[in-house]
Amino acid sequence: MKDQFGRSIDYLRISVTDKCNLRCAYCMPVEGLPWIPRADLLSYEEIAEVVSQMAGLGLRRVRLTGGEPLVRKDLPDLVSLIRGVEAIEEISLSTNAVLLDGFAEDLRAAGVDRLNISLDTLRRERFAELGRRPDRFFDATMVGIAAAERAGFSPLKINVVVMRGFNDDELEDFAALTRERPWHVRFIELMPTEDNLFLSDRFISADELLGRLHAQADLEPVEGPVGNGPATYFRLPDARGTVGVITPLSHNYCNKCNRMRLTADGRLRTCLFGTHEVDLKGPLRETGSVTAAVAEALAGKPERHFLRIGTASGSGGLSALSQVGG
Ligand code: 5AD
Ligand code: SF4
Repeated sequence: MKDQFGRSIDYLRISVTDKCNLRCAYCMPVEGLPWIPRADLLSYEEIAEVVSQMAGLGLRRVRLTGGEPLVRKDLPDLVSLIRGVEAIEEISLSTNAVLLDGFAEDLRAAGVDRLNISLDTLRRERFAELGRRPDRFFDATMVGIAAAERAGFSPLKINVVVMRGFNDDELEDFAALTRERPWHVRFIELMPTEDNLFLSDRFISADELLGRLHAQADLEPVEGPVGNGPATYFRLPDARGTVGVITPLSHNYCNKCNRMRLTADGRLRTCLFGTHEVDLKGPLRETGSVTAAVAEALAGKPERHFLRIGTASGSGGLSALSQVGG
């Protein structure tokens, strides 16, 4: 699948639900959002059918996201269905790990290759404050991460959204973790959406963050782990893991974009931000085929996003990333 700018698209991020068991301030209002009605959700069979038809066009890797993907019932069943699509070389999952203790082994057995875990703080009380859930959710997350390691998910990627005055005093603690554990900790720039503009003054650029880390420790630039996402990686002396930065705002990496997104209600979004999307659910349910709609989406994939700090204008009116799978 080539777009009009010559980029090869072989990666699909699939949002399986817009719901989440946490309420991270940058991602979801505490009262939640208007959820997608059940009848509009793609079934697991429908998702696998879309993957299968797109695999015929060149899709090779998929990631399951949400919302929080594990709040949708029987997620390993979807993994098994996608595993059955021969051309798909890799299945990964992004999760907050709250429910992972109950699922890690089944996910591994069903065929998940890699896990990304969202963890913005290592401190219990902060976790509760950011996620706006009781302390036990932090404990569940820690248990979930341990379960993932026991189930053989390695290396784990840990995603940390950095916010000034909230968790930017934990950079060193996260980096220190990579000495003992083979984790790839990735610091992510806060992206503005309609619902999180109140956090705008907490934005920290990756350059500032790396400057601070360099002042505290010897960082050596390294090749990142497999999965060729848009991160830049460094290693502390003798560390088993790495630290990296993901810079959607300060340095956009749209020229290397390899992906599209499927929303839980079956819209193919060609860019995380902006308004361009093509409905697949209609054609799938009416004709059984999505290939024409996928071609149309590909032809209209925009060149880049126009995000700017402090305004949601570049996000295309998106209220939260939970609606499009991050
Ligand atoms: N800015 C940056 N990252 C975000 N995520 C969700 N919303 C935002 C935002 N506004 C992250 C989650 C998760 C990944 C899928 O996207 O924390 O790590
Ligand atoms: Fe790709 Fe759009 Fe993300 Fe840029 S903003 S990397 S074009 S999905």
